[in-house]
Amino acid sequence: MSYVHTLIQPRRRQTLAEPWHRLKGRWRNGGVEEYSLGQSHGMRQLRRLHLRAGIEVNEHQIGLEGLPEAFRGFRIVHLTDLHHGLYFPAEALAAVVELTNELEPDLIAVTGDFVTRSRNYIEPVAQMLGGLRARSGVFAVLGNHDFRVGDGEIARALDHHGIQVLRNRHVKLRRNDQKIYLAGVDDLLYRADLRRAMRGVPDGAATVLLSHNPAIIDEAADMGINLVLSGHTHGGQVKLPLIGCVYGRSERRMRFKIGHDSLGSTQIYVSRGIGTVVLPVRYGCPSEIPHFVLEPLQDRLREDSRSPYAAGWQSARPHASTLACR
Ligand SMILES: [Fe+2]
Repeated sequence: MSYVHTLIQPRRRQTLAEPWHRLKGRWRNGGVEEYSLGQSHGMRQLRRLHLRAGIEVNEHQIGLEGLPEAFRGFRIVHLTDLHHGLYFPAEALAAVVELTNELEPDLIAVTGDFVTRSRNYIEPVAQMLGGLRARSGVFAVLGNHDFRVGDGEIARALDHHGIQVLRNRHVKLRRNDQKIYLAGVDDLLYRADLRRAMRGVPDGAATVLLSHNPAIIDEAADMGINLVLSGHTHGGQVKLPLIGCVYGRSERRMRFKIGHDSLGSTQIYVSRGIGTVVLPVRYGCPSEIPHFVLEPLQDRLREDSRSPYAAGWQSARPHASTLACR
């Protein structure tokens, strides 16, 4: 009897405990993102078309002070907050890459939150984004979720797939002997250092800053940066009738939450981004891929009698992206 007992007891314990431990382990490693939707190839293609249709591509003209003539018409596509995972799967990423490449940009800027919680999505997201194509390159900064998951690992994976990660540094972009500067900082809550990123940039040079968190705006304005591209807020993500945005309702966070704005001579564009957090839904705040066309500020002023930096920007679809969640 004792022999039978020792054989049966461990097997019973294994049967009951294993699924629990497996579930717990998977949750710790990646939460619900670990689980596949299990869709067929056909279903994935349909979903990809559906996702593609759900992303707004908005074109904006931005007038920048000191923009060299060679950069007139320079086109930047801005991607942010992809949050690759269960609720933003590979076929959705493929749709984003496809839409972006169709715009034939000069530069692609990706402002962080590549993943949400799971390390398992680091290599897949980097590999998919490796398919992005832009004449002057693809550049990125990291978001708060990237730091929680593993900033070093994400930066290495992106770099391996041809995406330059600007971690408190800048690069010069050249066209015919003329140049503008592109700077990028780590997330504001995790060692952002704008002074270091801007070291060596000459005064008065046209500069674009990539920062996941738009709260960098005060410091950017102090340093005279021309344009900041940010994400992080998801534009509020869920906008309910009468109530408005569900997330980020504090007074401080209502400003610089969505679309174009300016502080002093510094313009900022906060994209609604593409993926989701907390809840896997967007409501009244669709995903967005903004597409900027740079022009010298003087050109925009000639066409517009508003204040210089309000006039610095013009959206081809003004209702699509601004004030939607305020
Ligand atoms: Fe995000």
